[in-house]
Amino acid sequence: MSLFIHKIKELVFTEKKPISFYAGKEMANISTLKDAWLFIEEDKISDFGSMNHIPEAYKNASKKIDASDRMVFPSYCDSHTHLVFPESREIEYVDKIKGLSYEEIAKRGGGILNSAKKMTAITEHQLFEDAMIRLKEIIHYGTGAVEIKSGYGLDTENELKMLRVIKRLNDESPLTIKATFLGAHAIPLEYKSKPSEYVDLVINEMIPQVAAEDLADYIDVFCDKGFFTPEDTDRILNAGMKYGLRAKIHANELDYSGGIQVGVKYNALSVDHLEYTGDAEIEALKNTETMPTILPGAAFFLNMPYAPVRKMIDAGLPVALASDFNPGSSPSGNMQLIQAMGSILYKMTPEEGLYATTINTAYAMGIEETHGSIAKGKQANLFITKKIPCIEYMAYSYGDNKVDVVILNGKIIA
Ligand code: NIG
Ligand code: FE
Repeated sequence: MSLFIHKIKELVFTEKKPISFYAGKEMANISTLKDAWLFIEEDKISDFGSMNHIPEAYKNASKKIDASDRMVFPSYCDSHTHLVFPESREIEYVDKIKGLSYEEIAKRGGGILNSAKKMTAITEHQLFEDAMIRLKEIIHYGTGAVEIKSGYGLDTENELKMLRVIKRLNDESPLTIKATFLGAHAIPLEYKSKPSEYVDLVINEMIPQVAAEDLADYIDVFCDKGFFTPEDTDRILNAGMKYGLRAKIHANELDYSGGIQVGVKYNALSVDHLEYTGDAEIEALKNTETMPTILPGAAFFLNMPYAPVRKMIDAGLPVALASDFNPGSSPSGNMQLIQAMGSILYKMTPEEGLYATTINTAYAMGIEETHGSIAKGKQANLFITKKIPCIEYMAYSYGDNKVDVVILNGKIIA
């Protein structure tokens, strides 16, 4: 099966020699090809070039798409989501608008612990079906790869249930999916007075079982004020490392919690949220293999202070942007909106936003060699836009879906 897309107004983010991630000033300009064609063989990008010269063989492709007036982008990679969850939490949102306290909200059905309570009641089958609907939605908005966390189970049985659902989603959906074990997302009520015993449970029971069933690629901890301390995080990441689970952690969302530093200590693939990032944290991140990842949806939805993204990029760091799709703090997995928020809220240029939502997030989920840009031999995960005037329009038109045709693994999906 071959697919020839021709008369492309602009083919965006082409790479001759693929790079793992882009940092600092490298994020300022993006390579594109105007009036272009792209040739896909089976599930891979085979070649691309200018309409001035089209190799004869490509003209006989089994399928052709005329992309006149339209642009082609690599699919978004969303490196941080909690999109397997039992129920939405709009009541908690309304309660918050009305000024209710955290305790009152928890009593009325809000918070991570309440999602965990609902998790015990929902069947694995229903959890899968509901998540599949969300996956179809994000595909429609241009996402081609997504990381999904557990963390609404908070006991061994339900954490494993979530991870099995994520595994099945990976088997049955055209998306590339990475699974992260987040047993340390919140401290269950029964452990409130003895949190270190819950950490013991995560380390001694959950991690070994997750590893035995090969259910996770990465390990996460919500390292923040009121949740898990840097010491807890250190113990959990150390245990995860022994089972080959690399860290990707929630850090510095609520305070200068030390999360960034403990993440860097364990060579985390990413540290995520980062609202509380000062000079010491920026220094800690320099010259490391850890991708600083911002979650604009959560900061926007919760009215949090915004991470100092400009300062980070100007200091030479890479930055990734992910959706944090979850029922409590970011009920959307629309990466076009996340890219626009990168520009609106964090003053990222549209080019920086593109790197941050494609190759840098691909890096933050360990798939940068195969995803995140238009390069020969990479997975054919891309989308054709509707008629749009220029690249900048993607970050400017924040309310509409600009995606027309989605191609994943070389196949037209939607
Ligand atoms: O990334 N910060 C921690 N966890 C989630 C919130 C999850 C929830 O409220 O259900 C987040 O924002
Ligand atoms: Fe999160």
